[in-house]
Amino acid sequence: MASQLAIRASLLHFPRPPAHPAAEVDAEFFADGILWVKDGAVRAVGEAAGLLRRLPRNLAVRSCPGCLVTPGFVDAHIHFPQTEVVASHGAELLQWLENYTFPAERKFSNPIYAADAARFFLAQLLQNGTTTALVFATVHKESAEAFFREAEARNMRMIAGKVLMDRNAPEDLRDTADSGYRDSRALIEKWHGRGRLHYAVTPRFAVTSSAAQLSAAGKLLREFPDVRLHTHLSENRAEVELVARLFPEAGDYLDVYDRHGLVCARSVFAHGIHLCGREYRRLAEAGSALAFCPTSNLFLGSGLFSLKKAAAAGIQVAAATDIGGGTSFSMLRTLAEAYKVTRLLGDELTPLKSFYLATLGGAQALGLEQKIGNFAPGKEADFVILDPKTSPLLQHRLRHAASLAEQLFAYIILGGARCVRETWVAGRREFAREGFDAGE
Ligand code: GUN
Ligand code: ZN
Repeated sequence: MASQLAIRASLLHFPRPPAHPAAEVDAEFFADGILWVKDGAVRAVGEAAGLLRRLPRNLAVRSCPGCLVTPGFVDAHIHFPQTEVVASHGAELLQWLENYTFPAERKFSNPIYAADAARFFLAQLLQNGTTTALVFATVHKESAEAFFREAEARNMRMIAGKVLMDRNAPEDLRDTADSGYRDSRALIEKWHGRGRLHYAVTPRFAVTSSAAQLSAAGKLLREFPDVRLHTHLSENRAEVELVARLFPEAGDYLDVYDRHGLVCARSVFAHGIHLCGREYRRLAEAGSALAFCPTSNLFLGSGLFSLKKAAAAGIQVAAATDIGGGTSFSMLRTLAEAYKVTRLLGDELTPLKSFYLATLGGAQALGLEQKIGNFAPGKEADFVILDPKTSPLLQHRLRHAASLAEQLFAYIILGGARCVRETWVAGRREFAREGFDAGE
């Protein structure tokens, strides 16, 4: 691996988060820029005219004319064992779990099966420009082991966890409050903080965990003050009603988690579609994040997530695919559907905010903003090279784009997975689209 490299292309990143989640973001864009990487980290970023003079004389600059380089995408909620159930027809959440998801997840008790699935999954992420994700495994500790091992082999910054699920699930997919606690603890001790890996305590959702199991999850969060909490919240109306029946003492869905110490600044809740005012306020107060999963929400008919309400309440939001309820690994496709959801609600999602949600916004939600998410010097050099030459229609549209916002929107709506030419992880190229060479 070359210890230094410099890439010349258009560059886009977000140096800082907005002052408030509802505010527009500050972007830095260099039409003719240089990204200088040294020892796997960003050394500098800037206009080519100025930065070229600072580069070491013997460093060859790789030119990628017409390409757009952004930080690697962050997927804030995804299930690695569900790749094989993407595109399962005809069911809402609870039926879909029973008909498709649970039967697939059973297979992950086999470590060889789990390792194969993890390899396929990580290859899909890289092809789509995603370099970091917050990932559900299955209830089997072997599945989390397999995932961490494969992520480590690619040096990817990943957060994952074994699912906790001790009721309302098939018997062979259940753990117990005790065994779930012990297995999670052992996984944390082995993997959390190893290389670029982190652990998230992962109760599936309130439906499938007893109060004793949610308490054990809270205990883990207290014992390990930098592990994260990852679960589902208020995705589907039947789910919300079932949670109310299972936990009659709780004031609302979020309160179930709160009573067990699971609502804090380290928590990421997927969906949050059917929330009441109190839940919005409490999420903001706790500093928890919501993962907006538009392709999943549309596919499963779960409802329309209100980015406007969440942001106005001051809640951090990130974008996520939720494979396999979601239908695409592509964060660009995900942003396209996010845009359409905001249109259906009569709200606004700008192209800049969209790219923010999939980069620095995701890093913030996952507590990784000191390490990834933009091109600040010292950040880990995870980045994507997007190339419109992979799509004649995108290329054509870009020729008629009058502004940066128009260009970015064309990438979102027309780019998809195809426009990802290369994906780099900590300064190393981990994916290159065959048949193309982005540079000269
Ligand atoms: N709620 C509980 N489990 C799941 C899951 O696997 N996918 C989605 N989308 N929602 C869930
Ligand atoms: Zn999910």
